[in-house]
Amino acid sequence: MKVTSVVGARPQFVKLGPMCRAFASRGGAFVTHRIVHTGQHYDAAMSDAFFRDLELPTPDVNLGIGSGGHGVQTGQMLARLEEAFLGERPDLVLVYGDTNSTLAASLAAAKLHIAVAHVEAGLRSFRKDMPEEVNRVLADHVSTLLFCPTDRAVANLAREGLMAGTSIEGATTDVPAVVRVGDVMKDAVDQNLARAARRPDPVPGLGIAGRDYAVATVHRAENTDDPARLRQIVEALGRVARDVPVVLPLHPRTRGALAAAKLGSLPEGIRGVEPLSYLDMLRLVSGARLVLTDSGGLQKEAYLLGVACVTLRDETEWVELVEAGWNRLAGADPGRILDAARTSLESAPQASSGNLYGIGHAAEHIVASCVAWGTRERA
Ligand code: UD1
Repeated sequence: MKVTSVVGARPQFVKLGPMCRAFASRGGAFVTHRIVHTGQHYDAAMSDAFFRDLELPTPDVNLGIGSGGHGVQTGQMLARLEEAFLGERPDLVLVYGDTNSTLAASLAAAKLHIAVAHVEAGLRSFRKDMPEEVNRVLADHVSTLLFCPTDRAVANLAREGLMAGTSIEGATTDVPAVVRVGDVMKDAVDQNLARAARRPDPVPGLGIAGRDYAVATVHRAENTDDPARLRQIVEALGRVARDVPVVLPLHPRTRGALAAAKLGSLPEGIRGVEPLSYLDMLRLVSGARLVLTDSGGLQKEAYLLGVACVTLRDETEWVELVEAGWNRLAGADPGRILDAARTSLESAPQASSGNLYGIGHAAEHIVASCVAWGTRERA
């Protein structure tokens, strides 16, 4: 059985890590797993560092698409992925998360009648003005295998008519299988935390051992592309930084947006640094007192590493974190952000309760399901 994983952006490289291990250990001789990199993220810091840290094989194909407007980027990927799939003829295309690479790969495969499996299916922000929401909804609706991280994701799909109950062996594009498998990002944390802990201090001079700093990231278009909103967030982080120093690894989009909004010189107490690799970020976050972010993955990683999180958005796909008191939604309002940060700093969450994202075997479950589906195909 030929399975092709399509990845292109940072969070997808992280998800690919446990999947490669699971294909190596569980796929056996039956599965040939190939990797196509669209090139959506191409910088050494945004791509190569992740392949190195996660010990990922070099992609079989790199399309080198790079940046561009949504239409240009997605359209170029669609054309090039179609070519790649026609050459390779995979039985199943695995897509991850909610990026333009996810959308392009899902559409290209579906139009060629190649089955699609979506890892991280069923997530919803209920905001169609987010490019990620459009990407994930469309990917779900052309998938044959929908691998959900949470019960909430399963329920979201049911509301859209994608019901659980179909067996893996009976799944088709018209009647897909919906399976709750847990979250492959939990697998990735479990597999890499010990290695991360042995890394040298990723931000020298910070005093990582003292656990007296916050980590912030901002990269979502809704935050970076509105100068007024970005200004508010920077102001809020500046106020938080009066209580506790804030390390801010800067996504290239954010660095550009800050410069364009004349916010290049950050308030005192905020330390802007280059994007960190996966292991360095794990090391940094696991020693932090607080995370402030608009990243979906980082909200979960904060919980998995026992660190309180303030989310710089008005909603989140990871609602169970808010319900469990691990995550406070603060939007871009400086007052709300400061209040949420202070409350989180004063009453840090207790040791990780429950297994909201599974027990670290999501990737194995996914690979076993792919094999079950592929075996049915051959019968
Ligand atoms: C993408 C995803 C988002 C994900 C994020 C993780 C979409 C619509 N968005 O957003 O869901 O959370 O990745 O980081 O797919 N750039 C570089 N070097 C790089 C990559 C990007 O300089 O290696 C710059 C480019 O100038 C580009 C900008 O960053 O214009 C944004 O990159 P893009 O690929 O459009 O999306 P992200 O914002 O990274």
